[in-house]
Amino acid sequence: MCGIIGYTGKRNAAKIIFQGLKRLEYRGYDSCGLALVEKGKIILNKQAGPIAKLEPFIAGQKVFFSTGIGHTRWATHGLANRINAHPHFDCQKKIALAHNGIIENYFTLKKELIKKGHSFRSQTDSEVVAHLVEEFFRQTKDLEGAFQKAITKLQGSFAFVLISVYAPGKIFIARKDSPLIVGLGEEENFVASDIPAFLPFTHRVVYLEEGESGVIDAKKIRFFGRRRRLRSETVSFRSIDAVKGRWRHFMLKEIYEQPEVIERISSFYVKGKKIHFPQLGISQSFLKKVKKIYIVACGTAYHAGLAAKYLKEGLSQIPLEVEVSSEFRYRQIKFSSHDLVISISQSGETADTLAAVRLAKVSGVKTITICNVMGSSLVRESDGFINTLAGPEVGVASTKAYTAQLACLFLFFLYFSSLRQETVSVQRQKFIKEFQQIPRLQREFLRLNFIKIKRLAKAFSKYGCFLFLGRGINYPLALEGALKLKEISYIPAEGYPAGEMKHGPIALIDEYKGVVCIITQGRLYEKMFSNLEEIKSRQGKILALATQGDRTIKNLTPAVIFLPSLQEYLSIFFSAIALQLFAYFVAYNLGRSIDKPRNLAKSVTVE
Ligand code: M6R
Repeated sequence: MCGIIGYTGKRNAAKIIFQGLKRLEYRGYDSCGLALVEKGKIILNKQAGPIAKLEPFIAGQKVFFSTGIGHTRWATHGLANRINAHPHFDCQKKIALAHNGIIENYFTLKKELIKKGHSFRSQTDSEVVAHLVEEFFRQTKDLEGAFQKAITKLQGSFAFVLISVYAPGKIFIARKDSPLIVGLGEEENFVASDIPAFLPFTHRVVYLEEGESGVIDAKKIRFFGRRRRLRSETVSFRSIDAVKGRWRHFMLKEIYEQPEVIERISSFYVKGKKIHFPQLGISQSFLKKVKKIYIVACGTAYHAGLAAKYLKEGLSQIPLEVEVSSEFRYRQIKFSSHDLVISISQSGETADTLAAVRLAKVSGVKTITICNVMGSSLVRESDGFINTLAGPEVGVASTKAYTAQLACLFLFFLYFSSLRQETVSVQRQKFIKEFQQIPRLQREFLRLNFIKIKRLAKAFSKYGCFLFLGRGINYPLALEGALKLKEISYIPAEGYPAGEMKHGPIALIDEYKGVVCIITQGRLYEKMFSNLEEIKSRQGKILALATQGDRTIKNLTPAVIFLPSLQEYLSIFFSAIALQLFAYFVAYNLGRSIDKPRNLAKSVTVE
C-alpha cells in the first residue's frame, strides 16, 4: 500500500523523487522519506506525516544527486513515526532500501541477523532486507549477488528499490505480489509503484513481472535470472488527469467527472446498435456456454458487484455469486470448466482480489477483470479485460471508478444476454438508449442539486450515527453510501436492506440518528415507505433520495433529494452521486482530511 519511487539520470533526483512522492501520496501518508546517493555517500531525510514535510530538505538541497529512492508509508509494522519511515539503512549506512509489502518471516530473519552483530533502528519488517543484503555483501563483495540472494530468503509480498554507495547510479529492483513499473526516459530511468509518479516525464513503461528482479541505471534495465525480451508499452494517461487543478479536493473533482466517464464508456463500448468489448479475451463460444459467474471484489468495487446482481435481473438467468475477495480466496469451491470469475477493481493491485483470481486460474477457470488501470497485475493476469476508462482516481474514496464499474457491468450483462439470446434486440436498444442519456442527466442533476446537498449535509453532520437503507438495487447503493460516509467523515454508518431493519438495527434509532433512505419508484416503493414510517415514529432523522414527482415523500420528511424520473435501475447513477456528495460535505463540515482519510490508502496491496 505504500508508494515507492526511484530515479537515476540527468536531472536532480531529489526534486524528481519529491514530485513523484506527491503523486503517490494516495497510497499511504503516515510518513515519508528519501535517500540520495553520490560519491561514496548516502544522504537520508525522513519525516513523520505527509510528503510536504520533506519540502524544507528539498529546498535546502544544494548538491546535485543523480540517483535516489523515495517512499510514502502506510504503516504495517511499527508506529507511524520518523524512525519507522523508509528508506532504511543497513548498519554501515552504505545501503538504503524502500519497501512496499509485508515481509512475513522478518522476525526470524531479524533474530538471526542480530546474532550476527547487526543492529536495527526501526520496528519495521522492511529494515531486515537492508541488513540481509549487507550480510551477503559482507561475505562476497558482490552487491548484485547479495541482492538476489536476499530476495530468496524472503516470505511475503514486496516491491523494493535499493541504492548503495557500492553501486552509484544504479537502483536494484524486485517485486513479488506488489506492483513495480519502470519508466523509460532518455538518459534517465524511473521506477515506481504506480505510473502517475513519473507521468510528466515519460509514458514509456516496462512492467516488472511477478517474481522479477533486476537493476536499472540511466541508460538501461537489466533483469536477473531468466532472459526475457524487454517489451515496453506506451501508456495514455494524461498527467493532467492526476492533478487537482482548481478543485478543492480530488474527491469533488472526481465526482464531477462522472458524466464524462459514462460518455467515454458509452462511446467506446457501444458502436451503433451493438455492444462490443475489444479486449474481452474470452471467446463468444465460451461465454455462450458459461454455467455460473462469480464476481469477486473488495470495498466499493464489491458494492458494484452486488449491484450487478440486480442489474442482470431481467437480462440473464445465469446464476451469479458475488463475494468479497478476502473470503472467496480461502473458500473450497468445486469449480466447473464452464464457470467464469469476474474481478472488479479500480487499482488492479488489491492483494485479496488478485489472490482470488489466482485461485480461479489454478483451478482452470477463465477470468475477466473490470479494472481501471491498464497494465496492472489484475489486467495482466486475467484472461480478459474490461477497461472502466475512468482515468486516474486519486481520492482515496472511490467515486468515478465506482459508477464506471456499474456502467461496465450493465453493458457486459446486456452483451452477455444478447449472445445467449436471453434478450431481444428491441429490448436491448431501449436499454442502450436510456443508458446513453445518463451523462446529460447527471450534469443537470449536479447543477440542480449541488447547493441543496451541501445544505442538507451541513444539517445532518451533527448526527453521531447513520443508517443507510434501500431495497432491491438500492440496497447495494445503501451499503456504498454508508461506506463513503464512514471512510471520510469517521461517523459510524451502516447500510442495510430496509426489510432487515426490524431484525436489529431499528434499536439504534432515536432523534440523534440520521437515516438515509433510497426510495425510488419501483415495485418495492410501498414497502420502503412503511419502513420509513417506522423510523419516523421513532424520531429518526430521515434524508430521502426519491424519484422526481413523488408527492407523498414530503409527508415523511422535508429533507429530500430528487433523482430523475427514469427506470429504477438507472437511478443508481444519480443516487451514487447524491450519496458521494452527501458524504463529501459532511466530512467537509467536520474538517476531515477528505482525499486522505486516516488509516486508509488508495490501493490495498497487503492482505
Ligand atoms: O482498487 P480496488 O477497487 O480493488 O480497491 C478496493 C477497495 O479497497 C476500495 O474500493 C475501497 O473500499 C475504497 N476506499 C472505497 O472508497
